[in-house]
Amino acid sequence: MTQPLSQASLQRIASLYPRIWDYNHYYVPSKLRTDPVYSAVVSEIGASALPVLDIGCGIGLLAFYLRESGVTADITGCDYDAWKITNAKCMAERGGYAGLTFLAADARTGLPDFSGNVVILDILQFFKRPEQEALLRLAATRVAEGGKLVIRSGLHDDSTRFRITVAGDWLAKLTFWMKSGPVCYPDCELFESVLGSAGLKVQISPLWGGTPFNNHLIVAER
Ligand SMILES: C[S@@+](CC[C@H](N)C(=O)[O-])C[C@H]1O[C@@H](n2cnc3c(N)ncnc32)[C@H](O)[C@@H]1O
Repeated sequence: MTQPLSQASLQRIASLYPRIWDYNHYYVPSKLRTDPVYSAVVSEIGASALPVLDIGCGIGLLAFYLRESGVTADITGCDYDAWKITNAKCMAERGGYAGLTFLAADARTGLPDFSGNVVILDILQFFKRPEQEALLRLAATRVAEGGKLVIRSGLHDDSTRFRITVAGDWLAKLTFWMKSGPVCYPDCELFESVLGSAGLKVQISPLWGGTPFNNHLIVAER
């Protein structure tokens, strides 16, 4: 497992979001400090020289985290929320990070031309099952030889963790942090069947950290 980012690096990323009257100003540092997913992604792809495509990148936190972790590969982030993409671009400029591209694009209508490592964090629950299958099939085509598709998702099962995950996603919608509420949560079978058929080797493991959510890390390797 990779070392977590230093306090100075976390502060540097947080300071890129300087609007102290905006609640995101407080959200960014606490999210980076407490969410285990960013260091998990560094563990999976941090040593690779392949470029990175971050689908549903939000305000670009993963890209900044990768840069602060010493990852120099080109990174493209896309998200259908134009407001978040504008923020991501401003933060990248403020941070002086090179090789970062942010695009406003709906992943249901296609993905940029790309070959490398692909990351999808916390967006599949906004897609219907056929849309999830289509996105995973398309994302698999963007994974280069020796590359990985790294996904974090809450998984549908009958656990209390799953019920808390659903409540958390609705809270994000009600507080306007997310444009939509959850639609459908994937299960293990989705990843194994779709990504397995695309020729990727799939591994699924819990990624709970200190959270109450039913999050899992899905790593599919070519
Ligand atoms: C829970 S946030 C995760 C943000 C980011 N991946 C992270 O971990 O910091 C989910 C993101 O998915 C984006 N999203 C949802 N549906 C999308 C779609 N159809 N195409 C692109 N982005 C989408 C949302 O705008 C939001 O930024």
